[in-house]
Amino acid sequence: MSVILETRNVSKHYGDYRALQEVSLTFREGEVVAIVGPNGAGKTTLVNVLTGLLKPTHGSVLFRGTSISGVGPVRLAKLGMARAFQLVHIFPELTVFEAIASAVISQQNRNMDFWSNAQSIAPLRERVEQVSRIFSLHNRLDWLASNLSQGEKKLLDIASAFALDPQLILLDEPTSGISSSDKRGMMDTLMDAARKAGVQTMLLVEHDMDLIAEYSTRIVALTEGRVLADLPPKEFFADPHLAAVIVGKPPVEMST
Ligand SMILES: Nc1ncnc2c1ncn2[C@@H]1O[C@H](COP(=O)(O)OP(=O)(O)OP(=O)(O)O)[C@@H](O)[C@H]1O
Ligand SMILES: [Mg+2]
Repeated sequence: MSVILETRNVSKHYGDYRALQEVSLTFREGEVVAIVGPNGAGKTTLVNVLTGLLKPTHGSVLFRGTSISGVGPVRLAKLGMARAFQLVHIFPELTVFEAIASAVISQQNRNMDFWSNAQSIAPLRERVEQVSRIFSLHNRLDWLASNLSQGEKKLLDIASAFALDPQLILLDEPTSGISSSDKRGMMDTLMDAARKAGVQTMLLVEHDMDLIAEYSTRIVALTEGRVLADLPPKEFFADPHLAAVIVGKPPVEMST
């Protein structure tokens, strides 16, 4: 399968602190990659570097062979990459409909004027309803985002990323803040959404080892900013040392 995203010798320093050190990773179509590691390992920093939000101190990030350093989120979405955040990232004053619609509009490269004419509003409405249905938000379209529950806000953030119609999606702790009995439901929803939306590659930061074992095709383990392991789940879990390093510290549900 062809390469979709790649880091070459990426380091990221915050002052003297080395949050990422010489990280070289290749992500391909068809993969569901779990990024794991103890708190502070550099997972969010890696996601931020992969999405161009942070510029690496050294090294480069290539999306389909093109450097994405300094590419903003709008252009990145047009190239085919979208993300959802560890801390929920919504505009509280928008309705659910407006939040998803703005993602659809930005992807379709149309401005509000275009969408406000009667002919184009129907496909927009249809697309928003389609996306909202996948995430069970279709009964909340006229709600203000600020009135949603924490779990629904998380779904809205992720739905907005899927509405960008990406080839690759990065999700930073999609199941954090969701009760353990609902985590599997969230993962099923994500997998279903990815299949329906034709998402080629999914990268997710996740702490729950059972979910990772069940849903990922590959595990990248970070510790202290370095890649400790990059293995299929079977091989990863066959090495008790690896799992111990990753879960050595209790997973923290609260976002940092
Ligand atoms: N803007 C920043 N300035 C200084 N240090 C930072 C900054 N952002 C992160 N760090 C530090 O870099 C390290 C890696 O942080 P990062 O958020 O990438 O970890 P993480 O693996 O996502 O952790 P968690 O599981 O808690 O979300 C941490 O020690 C953190 O304190
Ligand atoms: Mg993090």
